Formats: sequence, structure tokens, C-alpha cells
Amino acid sequence: MVLSMTSPVTTISEIGKHEGQTVTIRGWLYNLRESGKLLFPIFRDGSGTIQGVVPKNAVPPEVFDAVKGLTQESSVIVEGKVRADKRAPGGYELDVSNVQVLQRVSEDDPFPISLKEHGVDFLMDNRHLWIRTPRQAAILRTRAEIIKAARDFFDDRGFVLTDAPILTPAACEGTSTLFPVDYFDEQAYLTQSGQLYIEATAMALGKVYSFGPTFRAEKSKTRRHLTEFWMVEPEVAYATLDDLMDLAENLISFLVNRCLEKRRADLQTMGRDVSKLEKIEAPFPRITYDEAVKMLQEGHAKGALETKFEWGGDLGSPDETYLSAQFEKPVMIHRYPAQVKAFYMEPDPQRAELALCVDVLAPEGYGEIIGGSQRIGSYDLLLKRIREHGLPEESFKWYLDLRKYGGVPHGGFGMGIERAVAWICGLEHVRETIPFARTLHRLYP
Ligand code: 4AD
Ligand code: MG
Repeated sequence: MVLSMTSPVTTISEIGKHEGQTVTIRGWLYNLRESGKLLFPIFRDGSGTIQGVVPKNAVPPEVFDAVKGLTQESSVIVEGKVRADKRAPGGYELDVSNVQVLQRVSEDDPFPISLKEHGVDFLMDNRHLWIRTPRQAAILRTRAEIIKAARDFFDDRGFVLTDAPILTPAACEGTSTLFPVDYFDEQAYLTQSGQLYIEATAMALGKVYSFGPTFRAEKSKTRRHLTEFWMVEPEVAYATLDDLMDLAENLISFLVNRCLEKRRADLQTMGRDVSKLEKIEAPFPRITYDEAVKMLQEGHAKGALETKFEWGGDLGSPDETYLSAQFEKPVMIHRYPAQVKAFYMEPDPQRAELALCVDVLAPEGYGEIIGGSQRIGSYDLLLKRIREHGLPEESFKWYLDLRKYGGVPHGGFGMGIERAVAWICGLEHVRETIPFARTLHRLYP
């Protein structure tokens, strides 16, 4: 029988506030080291991990027996005295006085994710359990911080959150990546972007943003592509391309600073080189597409890129990786050829073959994390583009209305949360940035 626990319940992340006191924590056994009459269990509770010390001669025998041989991920409630220890990863250890095991994981069917290395497919098949490990938990906490920071950024600057529908009748970002949905015998699609709808809310409210899931039936199997991802999209009435670039660099600096301020320990758990993040301060370099093409051609001449990039094409992943590796800060590439960009982009009045658009590429080879533009203002041009792109006119009638009733210059951008998290956390692949990734070949768990 275990003695009842009466000490105050706390979390591991807050345990420093209770130094010298006896507290209760509720969590799971992450690991156990045994050395004769001394047990060193490591507990986790979702907020962090802490090592406990259980000396046989200092605790009741039933407490020692409960911890001895305890299996990984058994659920436990633990009472102990908090002791500062400089060598401990979180700065504290727990002198355990009492333990209650809620559910003991069977030795015959142990927790599948041991502390040794596993292959990625195995880990992704066990994603529901993998997220319990310290590194994955640190990534998910950082994702939550980035989302909170993005919301704070816009909320504190007078933007109104206006979420866009997820079921839509038409494409925003090209018809080749639409997920069809049968909508009571009508053809619907999962949204690719909230943009078209927040252009309408921007005309109603001035400065708006949306934040929600977006979908692309991407056949690409790269480290940057998900079929379901989250996008934060601001849209601003009267904004010019320069305004959008200012907004984008301020947003990114804000997100990185927030992570350095609040999630430094998590970034360390992931092994992130934070000195690289400390350099991320606005302003960021801005180069034109023309200049980017020149850099890519030089890269090819130096042998760093396999194929020679020709003016007029869209940047591929290797091109983006090469360009972003040339800068310590994110680089903003503006004014791409209109032919490689979406139908709704405003042409450059100086050179009509270019679009007033910008892509922001993260450093360290991460590639595009933001894409945005000024939107077409002219009713006639927009209609022409809708027709050229083979889009169903009747689905865009409301969108054309925005150019009929008090049209104004306006624009916005979209930042993919997972791409931003992958870069800030320094991850190989976006699949680790979201609790349950959806990719070309993965719908489970
Ligand atoms: O560049 P994209 O396609 O732009 C739009 O959707 C615009 N309508 C946004 C706007 O102007 N409001 O996508 C924007 C961002 C990309 O920069 C990237 O970060 C992310 O969304 N993204 C993806 N992230 C993960 N997986 C994918 N398949 C993604 N496609 C785009
Ligand atoms: Mg893009």
C-alpha cells in the first residue's frame, strides 16, 4: 500500500519554484537506471523531465519495490523533495519519498520506442507514442509557441482574425493540387489557402489574418511538403509590395525572438545552434528574381548546381536551397515572372511580365517559408487571368465583385507554420513539426 500524497501538485517545468519543498508530480517513467541499493528513475510529465533518487535505506520498502524494475512509460504519481543540482539537465533533482504506479506497462509488451535508434518509418507508424520522447515534445512545444507568437504579432498590430472556410468551390493555388470532396452532389474541394476569402474580409475590416489548416494534393515527396499544413495569412487593404516585405521580416524576427526568449531550453534539447537564430533581426536582404537568376547561374558555373537555371522558370527545391544558403538571414526574392505564379497577382507597372510578389527563403538551406503578393486590382485583368487559367468563372463571381465595389490596392502573404517550425527548430523534415503529419504515403496514425 502506498501512503496518500498530500503535498502540492506541480509540473516539472515549475519545479524550481519549490526548491527545498516536498511536491507531487504526475506523469510517466521515462527511464530507469539501477545501481544496487540506489534507483535513478527519470520522470516526465509533458512539461519536462527530472531525475529522481530512490535510496533503499531512505524510503519505505514498498516505495523502493514499486520503482525497482518499473517499465518505461508506466504512469506514476511521485512525491519528493526538490533539490537543486547543478549537474542535472533542468537544474533540479527529486529525492523521492512516495510513488504510486497507476498503470504498469507489461514486460511482455514493452513500450515500442526504446532509447536506442529507430528507423523513421517505424517512428512515424508509432507517432502517437513517439511524441512522448523529449525531443519530439520539445518540437511540439516550440510549434505551439510559434503559433501563439504569430497570433500575438497580428493581434497586437490591429489585425482582425477572420478565418476562411475549409470547404470551398474553387482553386486558389492551381487546379493540380486540389483535394476533391463530395458536397451533397456538388463538387467541393479542401481549401489550398484562405487568401481569396480574406481579401473580402480585408475590404470589410482593413487589416485581417486567417490561421487554419490548408490542403494540397501534392505528389511531391520532399522534406518540405505535407498534404495538410497550417498557414497564417495576413491580408491588408492599401498595402504595397514593400509594405508586405516589411511585415514579413518583422513577423519572422518576432517569431524567432519569442522562441529564443521562451523556448531556449527546448531548442537546446533539439541540439539547435541558437547562435544562428540570434542573427535573425530585420531588415532582411531583398533581391529581385533577376538577381536570383544571376546567382543561380554563377552557382552552376562554380559547379554547386547541376543544371543551369534559365530566366523564366520557377525556383525548384535545389535552387531555393542554394540561394538561401548564401545568406545568414532570410532572403526576400521579389518580382518573379508572372507566368510561374498564381493567377491573382498584380503585374509590375514597370514590367508587365513580372508579378508584384515575394517569396521569403529561410537561411541554412531551408527554402521558401512565405509566399505573397499584391493582388490584381483591375476587374478586366482579373477576369482575363481567370479565363487564361481555365478557372470556373461562376465560382469567382464574388471574388470579382471585390474589384467592382470600391477596389483598392491590397496584398498579403501566407506563412506555412510547419516550414517555419522546421527552420527555427533546425529539423531535417517537416514531418516532425506537426503532431500527426499527412504526406503522400501517410494517413496513419
Ligand atoms: O506560396 P503559397 O502556395 O501561397 C499561397 O497559398 C498564398 N495564397 C498565400 C497568400 O498570399 N495568402 O503557400 C504559402 C506558404 C509557403 O511559403 C509554404 O511556407 C507553405 O505555405 N506551403 C507548404 N507547407 C507545407 N507543405 C506544402 N505542401 C506547402 N505548400 C505551401
Ligand atoms: Mg509559394
